[in-house]
Amino acid sequence: MSETKDLQSIWFSEQDAKVSIIDQRHLPHLLVVEEIESVAAMCTAIREMHLRGAPLIGVAAAYGMYLACREAGKFGSRGRLEEAAKRLLATRPTAVNLAWAVQRQLDGLAGIEDPLQWPATALAAAREIEAEDIERCRRIGEHGIALIEEIYNQTRSRVNVLTHCNAGWLACVRHGTATAPIYAAHHRGIPVHVWVDETRPRNQGARLTAWELGQARVPHTVIVDNAGGHLLQHGKVDLVMVGSDRTTRTGDVANKIGTYLKALAANDNGIPFYVALPSSTIDWNLRDGVAEIPIEERNAEEVSFVRGLPRDGREIAEVRILPEESPAANYAFDVTPARLITALITERGICPATEQGIAALFS
Ligand code: MRU
Repeated sequence: MSETKDLQSIWFSEQDAKVSIIDQRHLPHLLVVEEIESVAAMCTAIREMHLRGAPLIGVAAAYGMYLACREAGKFGSRGRLEEAAKRLLATRPTAVNLAWAVQRQLDGLAGIEDPLQWPATALAAAREIEAEDIERCRRIGEHGIALIEEIYNQTRSRVNVLTHCNAGWLACVRHGTATAPIYAAHHRGIPVHVWVDETRPRNQGARLTAWELGQARVPHTVIVDNAGGHLLQHGKVDLVMVGSDRTTRTGDVANKIGTYLKALAANDNGIPFYVALPSSTIDWNLRDGVAEIPIEERNAEEVSFVRGLPRDGREIAEVRILPEESPAANYAFDVTPARLITALITERGICPATEQGIAALFS
């Protein structure tokens, strides 16, 4: 998939003008494709995480605006379009790509009076955003491979990368962000092995990253979320590589809950901690990630129940693991301060996680 075949996480079919996605809730057990036919269906798909990952959410929101234009265009109503934008914006708060893509669509449509032209304009922009994401991720791979290669050249032994959540092609369109340098290294013949944090509560690492790496035949091992510190202490990790849902202009990074703890453990053990991100995840308005980045709190049932395939079953099932009376809290992201980040890997190159470093690449 993606690294080995032509499937993407989202695609538009010219033939029947349909937007399709992989419904990631069923992976790794089933590969289910969902056609998204309305902006309401796209809102549900984003909110309920049929698709997820910051770059992909941005591309999906752009297609959501195209679907909104198809609906609003018939009635000639800009009000409906703005309403649809608000509904998309309300689906998930942390990944800035969503707001960025919706705003880009609104800006592009602002000067167009004829509502019948809206769908074509919005579709062209959505396709552009999709293509840009693919290219940005490809370039992240080109830049990031040097970090893996350098370690390999020094040690001449397998390079062990620790990653958290899924920052692979399923979180983007192709290649992924944190996985792009890993795939690039693997394709170049550099021996690489990935420690995959399972990533409770939704297990994006265990379900999605492990599946992706398996499809691409990249050696990997799934570990429980709490194992990273131990591995870092015992020299079993050469570098940590994660993605980002929102990056401040000063280099603070919001990513899946638990990322901060990995950064602390990496820092304590002198192991480099890299964040790979396309510039669409930079929020140029923010300077203090901990204080300013909105952290999504999801339904506590995601903590109370675990989803998977029963040992002797064929149907995906949910099982409760908490006492019925115990409350749960479900914070979906945390913020890693820039001081704990060795460098950022972007489509324009690698830079320190500082305001100056970012500005030097994106002046
Ligand atoms: O809740 P999710 O699955 O949307 O969270 C995804 C992540 O935190 C990813 O690590 C992040 O989006 C970077 S993906 C390229």
